[in-house]
Amino acid sequence: MYTLFQPTDQERVEGSMNPHLAGARDSTLREADEVVNDLEQVLLSEEVIAKRVKELGEQISRDYRGCDLVVVGILKGALVFMADLIRHLSIPVIMDFAVVSSYGAATKTSGVVRILKDLDQPIEGKHVLIVEDIIDTGLTMHYLINNFKARKPLSVKVCTLLDKPSRREVDIVPDYCGFAIPDHFVVGYGLDYAEYYRNLPQVGVLKPEVYKK
Ligand code: IMP
Ligand code: MG
Repeated sequence: MYTLFQPTDQERVEGSMNPHLAGARDSTLREADEVVNDLEQVLLSEEVIAKRVKELGEQISRDYRGCDLVVVGILKGALVFMADLIRHLSIPVIMDFAVVSSYGAATKTSGVVRILKDLDQPIEGKHVLIVEDIIDTGLTMHYLINNFKARKPLSVKVCTLLDKPSRREVDIVPDYCGFAIPDHFVVGYGLDYAEYYRNLPQVGVLKPEVYKK
């Protein structure tokens, strides 16, 4: 379902080739060039992600035809995925966001889930689609589904960009999944390591030396 390949020199310099930015390489662009060099492997290229996100959007639009939908993004990881996904939804949607914390700066889950920012609006009697960056142990999603179901919505479903089924500790199967990936700690397209790398347009595996920095 996914392909493994090294970032090419072309990909590394892509930003600086943008004719609109020629001669105006600002600090943002320089940082983007630098962060992609911290990747050991690109798991999912920008193009592969874009194609799959479009498919997911079309499928969700078909499944919820005739319904109003509350799309709930789990911040911060789902930010980039959700921004792209909603532009492929052709049904009426409203957006809401929750902020949960389960990780800190470590790459292993603490098992403790806390809601740091709750939904702005009630979801009683509404169809809810939770949008998440990745389901790993499943503890975060398990907690969120139960928490939201207690508010008596019409339905609660889950759309995740990535799934690491091999690491599951609770029985969670996403209703919509972009890509099942092997057990690597990945960054990019919203996913972070110690809050960095969310701005990478692709999903990749960090070089081991990055963790030692
Ligand atoms: P879970 O509770 O173990 O399923 O973890 C879910 C959360 O952990 C996700 O929303 C991510 O924020 C974070 N996470 C899990 N795996 C990764 C990864 O490979 N890279 C970055 N964040 C991850
Ligand atoms: Mg996260």
